[in-house]
Amino acid sequence: MLSTRRHFLQTASFASLAAVAGPSRAQERPSLSIPPLVDLRPGAPVTLTARVGETEFFPGKASPTAGYNRHLLGPTLRVRSGEEVTLNVRNELPEMTTVHWHGLLIPAAVDGGPHNEIPAGGTWKAVLPVQQSASTCWYHPHPHGRTGLQVYGGLAGMLIVTDREEQALGLPSRYGADDLPLILQDRVFDREQHLVYPRGHMALMHGVQGSVMLVNGAREPRAGVPAGLVRLRLLNGANARVYDLAFEDGRNFHWIATDGGLLREPVPLQRMLLAPGQRAEILVDFSDARSAVLVNRSTAGQQSLLHFAPAGEPRPQPVPARLASWQSPTREAAAQRRRLTMTLGNGAMDGMPGMQGMHGMPMPHGFDGRPFDMARIDQRVKLGAVEIWEVSSLPGMMMDQPHPFHMHGVHFEVLQRDGRAPGPLDIGRRDTVLVDAPVELLVRFTQPAPTVPFMYHCHILEHEDAGMMGQFTVT
Ligand code: C2O
Ligand code: CU
Ligand code: CU
Repeated sequence: MLSTRRHFLQTASFASLAAVAGPSRAQERPSLSIPPLVDLRPGAPVTLTARVGETEFFPGKASPTAGYNRHLLGPTLRVRSGEEVTLNVRNELPEMTTVHWHGLLIPAAVDGGPHNEIPAGGTWKAVLPVQQSASTCWYHPHPHGRTGLQVYGGLAGMLIVTDREEQALGLPSRYGADDLPLILQDRVFDREQHLVYPRGHMALMHGVQGSVMLVNGAREPRAGVPAGLVRLRLLNGANARVYDLAFEDGRNFHWIATDGGLLREPVPLQRMLLAPGQRAEILVDFSDARSAVLVNRSTAGQQSLLHFAPAGEPRPQPVPARLASWQSPTREAAAQRRRLTMTLGNGAMDGMPGMQGMHGMPMPHGFDGRPFDMARIDQRVKLGAVEIWEVSSLPGMMMDQPHPFHMHGVHFEVLQRDGRAPGPLDIGRRDTVLVDAPVELLVRFTQPAPTVPFMYHCHILEHEDAGMMGQFTVT
């Protein structure tokens, strides 16, 4: 069951030499680990090395993991809008990988999708012309069929775009102090508390969901924060779990940004859904100096994710009333309408009977009944066009699972959900949306993809790996 993963990690010589990270004493809550910040500047290429390592998620129990330049996860990359930056991605994994810049509006040739393969031992030079509003993005592997495993092993990092408009707002921006990157993931551990990547029917149908919650790679860490306004950059980096986030004491927070950047104005909330691949920025007021716990609410009850310990002089700070101005395309501008259906297969796979499809055949995951094919272009879009994409899902044989639908190289806005005006949580510019009912998206295509195509797919990584992905050119 775990043989693939064990093989992937154990063949590498790094695993045994690795230093370990994690809680030193069982009783002690680890403090929140803040990935190192790397400022990307023009003319100063940065090397990102995908490698294997080892991590102690439980004291004294080292598990093989992977990361960029480190044993688990990767540095936070920060880039200023309007600048062109260069990354040299080295692949020291024992297998092929790619690195996708999830949320960046850049040409498909450097997007890092399944076509931008970096063989084991190889290096890929990516020149990224970043020209978009301030936003919280991320980067992760995207090799077809192996994305789930590689991300799960630890390959993921945050990517922050800043711009003048955002800097002028005076939002909390001291990285790691009052501006915290929070990568939310869940994992499965075996009885010996070693990390495992389950395979099989359940994983294929529901995606891999674990009962152990991690924030920046640690279980229930503790974050010291100033007793004032703190900005949290939330990234759902889980393979399949939809987070339902709230504070244990029910406190309000201010939602200020979606995948695509700042909202026009802050929205007070007590609860927020975050689907795999999505990001949100929120401001939390800790000026009452009371400790607080960020929790995930699920049918299994409430799980603690992160404990906040405010310290210092209480300093109440106002939340800006206006955040950003940006133009939405009008619905009338849409040149074309496309309908896409995410189709959940029947989970039949090698050596496993599963449920039989209509004609007694195994039915793969896909779009419109067809699994992903690297050699097939599914949609052809005109550069500069605005289109309406209607995305729905066909219930599987056994369940109706919401799929997070993600598109590369674009931002979109939700026009309708379930035939009605979208709810208050559907506002803002996005690249990923949860399809728990049919949605209508207004998409603007600004990035070229003449030869290497862009992807659209379900961000449940096991669905994506099993074929729930399509590709489009933009010319
Ligand atoms: Cu975050 Cu195509 O992926
Ligand atoms: Cu993406
Ligand atoms: Cu899915």
